[in-house]
Amino acid sequence: MAHDLVSPGRRLMARLDEFAAFTDDPPKLTRLYLSDAHRRAAARYIAWAREGGLEARIDPAGNVVARYEGRRAGAPALMIGSHIDTVRDAGRYDGALGALAALATVEELAARGERLDFAIEIVAFGDEEGVRFPKTMTGSRSLAGLIEEGALDQKDAEGVVMRDALKAFGGDPERVAASRASGLAAFVELHIEQGPALEAEGLALGVVSAINGASRFDVEVRGVAGHAGAVPISLRRDALTASAEMILAVERRAREENELVATVGRLDVEPGAVNVIPGLTRFSIDIRAPRDERRRRAVADIAAAFDAIAALRGVALKLVQTHEASAYVCNANIVAGLIAAVEAIGQRPRLLPSGAGHDTMIMGQLCPAGMLFVRCKGGVSHNPLESISAEDCELALAALTRFVRDFRAG
Ligand code: GLV
Ligand code: MN
Ligand code: MN
Repeated sequence: MAHDLVSPGRRLMARLDEFAAFTDDPPKLTRLYLSDAHRRAAARYIAWAREGGLEARIDPAGNVVARYEGRRAGAPALMIGSHIDTVRDAGRYDGALGALAALATVEELAARGERLDFAIEIVAFGDEEGVRFPKTMTGSRSLAGLIEEGALDQKDAEGVVMRDALKAFGGDPERVAASRASGLAAFVELHIEQGPALEAEGLALGVVSAINGASRFDVEVRGVAGHAGAVPISLRRDALTASAEMILAVERRAREENELVATVGRLDVEPGAVNVIPGLTRFSIDIRAPRDERRRRAVADIAAAFDAIAALRGVALKLVQTHEASAYVCNANIVAGLIAAVEAIGQRPRLLPSGAGHDTMIMGQLCPAGMLFVRCKGGVSHNPLESISAEDCELALAALTRFVRDFRAG
């Protein structure tokens, strides 16, 4: 077989290139949860797993999962994987790297007929980015037994209800909330760093100490639309200028504290005409910090600032929380195991926090969990320029495989 001639890391890089073709918006890579591209990507993942002798399936929430039994059938499992949905105009490594590396790890064991004292479950989560529907991490929340009330009734921008999209995808909406995984000994995710720390220090790999918590909101500001020529400035209730003040208040609050970040990433203006005073805006806010109490204080301050701005400008304000995830301190045993694995392949392990959110923070509420980071070029991510080297990919896969081989359930 051709793939026997190339190293596991190069084979993984080639698969990541192939996987990037599953997009809903070519030539850009956009693969949102339960989209056609997601369906085709999941099918490819399942086909690869089958070629490797694994029976993979779509679970109720639209994750792809497969199990590689240990020496004894039904033993507790180590779950490894990441997500295969993307942001819009994404890079090809965020998520896909960890999902395909999990498959590669099991293929390596299977090819050698190597069975461990525990089973390995691999997963390709479907909804980490939260771009299509307001709430996010439906896949890992389902496995962790943390599906929120009403989550399946959410609509995307086109009005498609998640429940219907999930059914069409091959999931089972009726079972999503009751799919809490049992028998998981731990969860580990390999992911690109998405920041510049490893590159700055000349290191290929990092072990994640903790993951930032996050709060997200949808904001609606309602003013009064009117004639751009006829209504004097002093008499306007302009939804967009009020929103501009609010957005700057978000940035100002984030600047006040180290490690606090806040982003308005989406803004829609209605009616959106050159000669009409904006009557309505909708925008998103995403607020993150390594400590929950610091994030909550920032959320409260931002909400108070918004109220004051709305009152002063005579606009109506609606703030709806769409996502809340607590910061997660990675499990100490998993962290120690990952450090040992990185050292075992001759690399210096660097402990670092994750600014980005990950399914690991949800899985960590179910079982011990942790993450391995690999350096990405310039720390660039959520951008088509996202890039990793084949050498680093090789090292990351080697460290993950080493961690798995040395893992002791319980
Ligand atoms: C996911 O990438 C997130 O942190 O928003
Ligand atoms: Mn990711
Ligand atoms: Mn991402």
